Amino acid sequence: MSPTRSITSRTGHSARSPSHSIVASRWLPPGAYGPQNCRLATRRQVFIYRGYEKRPTLESEPRSRVMTILVTGANGQLGRLVVDSLRRRAPAAPLAVSVRDPGRAGDLADAGIDVRHGDFDTADTLARAFADIDTLLIVSGDAPVEARIRQHRTAVDAARAAGVGRVVYTSFVDPRPDSPFPFAAIHADTEVYLKASGLAYTLLRNGVYADNLLGFVGRALESGTLAAPAGDGKVAFISRADLAEATANVLLGDGHVGRTYELTGPAAIGFQDVADAVSRHTGREIAYRSIPTAAFEDGLTQAGLPPFMVTALGGMFRSVATGDYRTVTTDAAGLLGREPESLDAVLARALD
Ligand SMILES: NC(=O)c1ccc[n+]([C@@H]2O[C@H](COP(=O)([O-])OP(=O)(O)OC[C@H]3O[C@@H](n4cnc5c(N)ncnc54)[C@H](OP(=O)(O)O)[C@@H]3O)[C@@H](O)[C@H]2O)c1
Repeated sequence: MSPTRSITSRTGHSARSPSHSIVASRWLPPGAYGPQNCRLATRRQVFIYRGYEKRPTLESEPRSRVMTILVTGANGQLGRLVVDSLRRRAPAAPLAVSVRDPGRAGDLADAGIDVRHGDFDTADTLARAFADIDTLLIVSGDAPVEARIRQHRTAVDAARAAGVGRVVYTSFVDPRPDSPFPFAAIHADTEVYLKASGLAYTLLRNGVYADNLLGFVGRALESGTLAAPAGDGKVAFISRADLAEATANVLLGDGHVGRTYELTGPAAIGFQDVADAVSRHTGREIAYRSIPTAAFEDGLTQAGLPPFMVTALGGMFRSVATGDYRTVTTDAAGLLGREPESLDAVLARALD
């Protein structure tokens, strides 16, 4: 596969929302689109499977003030980084989160954030969670395909019923129903459903997390071999931290209604490049070995991942190997006001 670096322009059409202009001018500090020092701790984990189980339900507390922005999934990794970024950028902006377990968001409540209970599996909780919200970030969940399609539709329905002003959704690059990556069909469905809902929307097609590589890198440092079923496929990895910062700017900013952003890193990187970079940063000789997808899936099964995640990750690597995630766009740079972090910088932060 040739080392292609392609550039695409932003997709979607532009539209403006006067109500969101007011929100932006009230809450966006000067220079919010400029370069920011937004370096956050990297987690040495890969493709973490978070338990897919029901959480205990709690009733929301009565609320007396009008909320503006609500972030779902705020106990998750991306959601928490978005909240952190919003707090840095617009400390005075009313901010709410919805989480399945409010008890795990005590630090946010202590910081004055309105912590609400919201579970995509229970429409009633979302009706309460999304009340009085102007701008809603729906962070995509982690359930199997059919369940998650249903959950996201429930969230969109609840947003419409609650009169939410704009919904921002964390989609994924290449959201095709016929993608080898099963979860792509979820994002394709949610995008279509949200667009058809009549709600003002912004779609953030997030690229593959650079952070996901760190688990592979950790194992490579133990064995001397970076093993993955990636062939010579390249990926335009982007860090969660950059995605979070770009998302915060979309939530706070103006002019994003009806837009679809393809958020990628600054270059398409192959796994051989990753092995070379790890060798460079650690002084150890790390080889890259492309392994069969079936062997990769066997390893995931042995590690205890549920079958739907094994299939999903195997499928994702089929997409990686065919180059489905190698397109580089300038959308993230446009939202960040700077180049997104290179994969080398992410690795340096983790390894140096
Ligand atoms: N671009 C990529 O490379 C990539 C990689 C992996 C995942 N993703 C997608 O991006 C999302 C965010 O990534 P992440 O790193 O923050 O993942 P994460 O840490 O696993 O967080 C997932 C979030 O989804 C929430 N969630 C799951 N089921 C839910 C439900 N029924 N109702 C409400 N919330 C629910 C979880 O809530 P709790 O905190 O209550 O568990 C959690 O906050 C993932 O969920 C996934 O859809 C993207």
